[in-house]
Amino acid sequence: MSSTTILGIEGTAWNLSAAIVNESDVVAEVTHTYRPPTGGIHPREAAQHHARYASQVIRDLLDEAKQHGVTTGDIDAIAFSQGPGLGPCLRTVATAARMLALSLNIPLVGVNHCIAHIEVGKWKTPSSDPVVLYVSGANSQVLAYRMGKYRVFGETLDIGIGNAFDKFARNAGLTHPGGPKIEEYAKNATEYIPLPYVVKGMDFSFSGLSTAATDALKRASIEDVCYSFQETAFAMLVEVTERALAHTGKNEVLLAGGVGANMRLREMLDIMCDDRGASFYVPEKRFMGDNGAMIAYLGLLMLESGTVTDIDRSHVNPNFRPDDVDVTWIDGTIDEKLEGGN
Ligand code: ATP
Ligand code: FE2
Repeated sequence: MSSTTILGIEGTAWNLSAAIVNESDVVAEVTHTYRPPTGGIHPREAAQHHARYASQVIRDLLDEAKQHGVTTGDIDAIAFSQGPGLGPCLRTVATAARMLALSLNIPLVGVNHCIAHIEVGKWKTPSSDPVVLYVSGANSQVLAYRMGKYRVFGETLDIGIGNAFDKFARNAGLTHPGGPKIEEYAKNATEYIPLPYVVKGMDFSFSGLSTAATDALKRASIEDVCYSFQETAFAMLVEVTERALAHTGKNEVLLAGGVGANMRLREMLDIMCDDRGASFYVPEKRFMGDNGAMIAYLGLLMLESGTVTDIDRSHVNPNFRPDDVDVTWIDGTIDEKLEGGN
């Protein structure tokens, strides 16, 4: 039986990652990560990295796929991250995707990176209609499907939670990425230091919290500050996720994005879900951070539901919002079922 097979390329930020997936699984995946010599990410240098390694990554991917019996002739479409992300990185990856699609004479599918995180999570866990907490370096959003779109119920008003951790870590003299180090220090805390808890409506803000945490280092131990930073930021995220659950009437939470590796965040979400009788799902770590498989998989869902991207409409969008995408691959009656169940 032949199954739809898609090659997808992710490259919105650090990770250049390409994968081939079919309906049942990931056939092959190759990732090459840009590591800046010092400090944070430089968009142009990351883009140069992606340009330098794109052909090697694709070659290695095709070799790996071949070992699993999949050849270029089996590929039905090329998917790529159209946004959101860093402009120079997005453009480099889009160029590679266009060239591949044209040379293989197959359709191109531009996908939204945030929705790719959601769909791969649904694919790789038993979750089917979740409220999603997507927390990464650059992004922090609470989303859920409703009437043909993934709606953003709450989001950061300034920086993503991961970047807030990384910024604080840099100020504290810790190496990048800061998130895992903050998690380690937090385990040895003795006391909670009050820090600004900023939830406005359904949105949250992390920039002031990161600055306040840096300032608190003058009067408290790094362990206590890391602990307090985590507790405050995660409580904000869990509060908004819980309100989105209550508002939508859904009964599942799915965690996505690199910050989802944090065990304390998982524990807090788990407790909240338990209290509400909701199920909590976390995919395997390889599907949480940015990965090519999620782009290929969303490309597969889009292609199978008749959505492709003409080359002349394949420009990238660094601010591409998930709620701008018409969700053609979800059966709309999911809303009716939910309403009927209430
Ligand atoms: P995106 O383009 O989706 O924003 P990204 O490359 O910025 O992607 P991810 O790879 O999804 O982000 O996640 C990286 C972020 O996750 C970094 O900010 C890092 O500090 C944070 N992070 C990783 N592990 C942990 C952890 N255990 N606890 C908290 N934060 C973590
Ligand atoms: Fe991401």
